[in-house]
Amino acid sequence: MMVDPKYGGGGMDTVSYVLAMEEISKIDNSVSVCMSVNNSLVCWGLETYGTEEQKQEFLVPLAKGEMVGAFCLSEPEAGSDATMQRTSAVDKGDHYVLNGTKNWITNGKQAGVYLVIAHTNPEAGHKGINAFIVPADAEGVTTGAKEMKLGIRSSDTCSVMFQDVKVPKNMRIGEDGFGFKFAMKTLAGGRIGIAAQALGIASGAMELALAYSKERQAFGKPIFKHQAVSFKLADMATEIEAARLLCLKSAADKDNGLDYTLSGSMAKVFASEVAMKTTVEAVQVHGGYGYVKEYHVERLMRDAKITQIYEGTSEIQRVVISRTILK
Ligand code: CAA
Repeated sequence: MMVDPKYGGGGMDTVSYVLAMEEISKIDNSVSVCMSVNNSLVCWGLETYGTEEQKQEFLVPLAKGEMVGAFCLSEPEAGSDATMQRTSAVDKGDHYVLNGTKNWITNGKQAGVYLVIAHTNPEAGHKGINAFIVPADAEGVTTGAKEMKLGIRSSDTCSVMFQDVKVPKNMRIGEDGFGFKFAMKTLAGGRIGIAAQALGIASGAMELALAYSKERQAFGKPIFKHQAVSFKLADMATEIEAARLLCLKSAADKDNGLDYTLSGSMAKVFASEVAMKTTVEAVQVHGGYGYVKEYHVERLMRDAKITQIYEGTSEIQRVVISRTILK
C-alpha cells in the first residue's frame, strides 16, 4: 500500500494503511497479519534501506502483489531478547554463508523472499548483527511444518531453516553492523500495523456484540436495554475510540516525519489490551452462542491474544515506553 508508485506500489500514507488494517481485521486476521508483515516490515524495510538493485529485484514484485515477503528475526532462543541471535552469517569475501533456524515466521511457506537477521560477529553484540535478503528458492532454505495456533489459523506460520546458504554481499541491507538497528527501526513501524490489527479485532467484536444485543431478548426486552449489557458496550466504545486515536496518532507521526517509536508502542500495547478485553466481553454478551464456532465472535477472541505477543510483547512495549519517557 505505501510503496512509491515508481516501484509498483499504491503510494498511500500510513493513516490510510491503518484504516485498511482496521477494516480487514474486523473479519480476517490471517489476511491482515500477512498484509501487515508484507507492508510494514518487508516492503518498508526494503524501500527505506535497500539499494536500487535490491528494490528492482525484490521490492517491485512485492509491491505489485506478485509475491509476499517474510521477516526472519525470532529464533527458538531469541524472542524478546532480539540481540541473542544464533543464526550466523560468515563472511567469505564476495558472499556470506548463512546457517541457523528462525521460528514463528509469518508467511513462512508462502514467502518469495526472506529478510533474515543474523550475527556476523558475536563478540560485537548488537553491532555484529546484519540483515540479509534471501530468496525462498535459494539452495539450503527449507521450512518446517505449519504451526497449529490458537488463532489466526489460516495464516502460514512456520520455522525457516538455513543450511549453508550462500548470500551474495550485495544482498546485505545497509552498512556492516546495521542489522539490529534495521530490525528495530522496521519493527517500530510494524507495531503501528499490529496496533491497527488489534483495533480492528476490537471494533469487529463490538459491532457483533451490538448487533446481537439488539436481536436477543431476555426478561421481555432486547438485552441492550439491560444496563449489565449496555454498560459493557459503553466501555467497549470508549476504549476502542481511545485505541483508534492512538493508532492514528502514531500513523500521523510517521507520515509527518516525526519519531513514532513511542507512539507506535503506546498504540500497540493499548490497542492489543483493548482487543483482548473487548473480545472477551463480546463473547460474554453473546452468552452460550458466543462460545460456539457458528458465530464469528469466538474467532476474534482467539485472534486477539496474538496481538499482545507478536512484533514485541506487551511487556516489551512497556520496556520501550518506559525507557523513552525516563530518558
Ligand atoms: N530505532 C533505532 N535504533 C534503536 C531502536 C529503534 N526503535 N531501538 C533500539 N535501537 C538501538 C539502540 O539505540 C542501540 O544502539 P546504540 O548502542 O548505537 O545506541 C541498539 O539498538 C541496542 O538497543 P538496546 O540496548 O535498547 O537493546 P536491547 O537489547 O535492550 O533490546 C528491545 C531492546 C526493545 C528489548 C528489543 O530487543 C526488542 O524490540 N525486542 C522485541 C523483538 C520483537 O519485537 N520481535 C518481534 C518479531 S517479528 C514479528 O513478530 C513479526 C510477525 O510475525 C508478526
